[in-house]
Amino acid sequence: MFEHKGVNKILYGGDYNPEQWDEATRDEDMIMLPKARVDMVTLNVFSWARLQPSENVYDFSDLDSIVKRVTDKGMKICMGTSTAAYPAWMAKKYPDILRVDFEGRKKKYGTRHNACPNSPTYRKYSVLLAKRLAEHFRNQDNIVIWHINNEYSGTCYCENCERAFREWLKNKYGTLDKLNRVWNTAFWSHTFYDWDEIVAPNELSEYPGGSKSQFTGLTLDYMRFSSDSILQNYIDERDAIKGVINDALCTTNMMNVFKGLDYRRWAKEIDIASWDNYPQKFTSPYYDAFAHELIRGLKGGEPFILMEQSPSVTNWMPINSLKRPGQMRRFSYEAMAHGADALMFFQMRQSPAGAEMYHGALIDHSGRDDTRVFRECSAFGEELKKLGNAPLGGKADAKCAIVFDWPTWWALEDVGGITSRVRYPDEILKFYRALFESNVPVDIIGPEDDFSKYRIVIAPLFYMVGDGVKERMEDYVSKGGILLFTYYSGYVDENAHILKGGYPGCLRELIGARIEESDLLYEDMDHFVCDGVWIPGHVDDMSNSFTYNGVEYPAYKICDIMYVEGAQVLSVFNEDFYSGHPAITRNSMGKGFTYYVATSSSAEFYSDLIKNLCDEAGIGNAFDMSIEAVKEWEGIEIAVRQNDAKKVYYLINHTDEEKEVMFPFDGEELTENVRVEAGQTVTLAGTGVKVICVKL
Ligand code: GLA
Ligand code: ZN
Repeated sequence: MFEHKGVNKILYGGDYNPEQWDEATRDEDMIMLPKARVDMVTLNVFSWARLQPSENVYDFSDLDSIVKRVTDKGMKICMGTSTAAYPAWMAKKYPDILRVDFEGRKKKYGTRHNACPNSPTYRKYSVLLAKRLAEHFRNQDNIVIWHINNEYSGTCYCENCERAFREWLKNKYGTLDKLNRVWNTAFWSHTFYDWDEIVAPNELSEYPGGSKSQFTGLTLDYMRFSSDSILQNYIDERDAIKGVINDALCTTNMMNVFKGLDYRRWAKEIDIASWDNYPQKFTSPYYDAFAHELIRGLKGGEPFILMEQSPSVTNWMPINSLKRPGQMRRFSYEAMAHGADALMFFQMRQSPAGAEMYHGALIDHSGRDDTRVFRECSAFGEELKKLGNAPLGGKADAKCAIVFDWPTWWALEDVGGITSRVRYPDEILKFYRALFESNVPVDIIGPEDDFSKYRIVIAPLFYMVGDGVKERMEDYVSKGGILLFTYYSGYVDENAHILKGGYPGCLRELIGARIEESDLLYEDMDHFVCDGVWIPGHVDDMSNSFTYNGVEYPAYKICDIMYVEGAQVLSVFNEDFYSGHPAITRNSMGKGFTYYVATSSSAEFYSDLIKNLCDEAGIGNAFDMSIEAVKEWEGIEIAVRQNDAKKVYYLINHTDEEKEVMFPFDGEELTENVRVEAGQTVTLAGTGVKVICVKL
């Protein structure tokens, strides 16, 4: 990733914000950071007000002194552009920079991540700052990457955004006629005769007190527009930097499974993906792994930077629990196992005041280097040094992919009539979890990605079918691929307009069945709220059930009522008036098969289903063994990254108990430098990790 900068190990460090403290503290930092084996710091993420104290004055002197200090210590720099929090004087002088929120309120100055993306002031001064920074540091060789803005997020509904939205729509649709047709504006008399009649969809317009839009097509486009507007801010800064330093690498730190921005579109503009991971005590390891895979998948499986994690606690949960001894190391290896080639913390030293003063840091308020956290971080820094370049550059070689798509997420969760019990990522995670717990390598891909390298493609809730996707899916299956859909597949086109002919629309031939109705199931509850009215009464737990492989599994949330048109029925619903109708089908097309799962079920079901699919496709786990073989290694994650010369296996114990794993190859354990013979039992301490390199 950074070989051209002479980097031959996992870079290690994090956000360093010394603008908050005095010279003496900075002196101490320069002794302590090297002690912890920190070799990269992220600078200048929130310094705009200091860099530009007034409209025509730029002052980089303090940043220069920080850059000099860390450079003298041989550290690399991830250079921020500081544009995620603008100066107060700018908001006072140019209020167009302030956002209008969902409720329609013009914001005042405060907090961060708050610029209107279409504000002329923001667009001018953020780009100018990026350009000046690039000019100032063009010869600063230890800058390995530029960190533009920080955790881009949020939506603005101001008049500038509305105007820009209309331009965006003109560009997309060309004519109002087309827009009216695609949005079906004949509904509720919405026909637009002038572009200026179109307003932003917020609480003042299409969301009267509810959380679902009253005009889905418009809202969907506004979400796309909003994501694109903010992306344009990124692109403008990036271009300003690259205009000065043409081989500069640029990134921005993404967030997890984040709904607001279509990261797949963003990734095309980013050189190296990076993201911030803040697992809590109760976060399941499969969730973290999924988030890593999601980010890794954005750039075709290339390594990414873990830009932030806390060495200990966060400050933004109601209750911020400590990372237990060994947990930071375990989470770090999990990131590496799924593609991270740099590990960074937020942050190097705790703030002396402000919202984040109780957030964990390498150096806490005591300033000591013998705290548990400092000792763990230093020991891990030493370990990474020892691993050298061995973990770098490997990729996964997954034969199974899961499709995850942002516009699908937006459209599906924003329209009335879809059960509010379904959350798109949760349903995707059910499949991912089954694969993760069987240690099967998985790529997370988009609907536009190449399916042909996978033996199984799982497309849960494939609600929105974009142009040409059905044809590519048919081609994939015909050539021998295994494709899986679930309920809520094949409903709308990319503009949230219903596909013709009933569900599953254009996927009907692939699935070999049609869905006439879907029964949405209640949870066990003794009252419910409908249109703001509290309706008393008792609704029983209305789950249904189906029998698969001789086991009865629960059917939750939704049951499609299907009529097969050529598909084989593998399981039927057991109850209600549609008892006997298919719950799971399998249809053949050419050399391949399409599965359809007509309901949502329990973890046990997905695990059973995944095992059968993998057997059918001839896919094994990370050891290339049949999934069944490692069932007894519960709580152990096994992941592999590889290149032409070697495979690096990560054996991660997510439990507190000691575990044993049979390792099937000859290799070398890198953290302890010991040989491992094929068939040898490897012991993992509670939360322990082994990293075993196998030469090819
Ligand atoms: C985010 C931000 C950081 C910091 C951390 C705290 O990830 O990018 O600036 O606020 O959260 O957890
Ligand atoms: Zn705006």
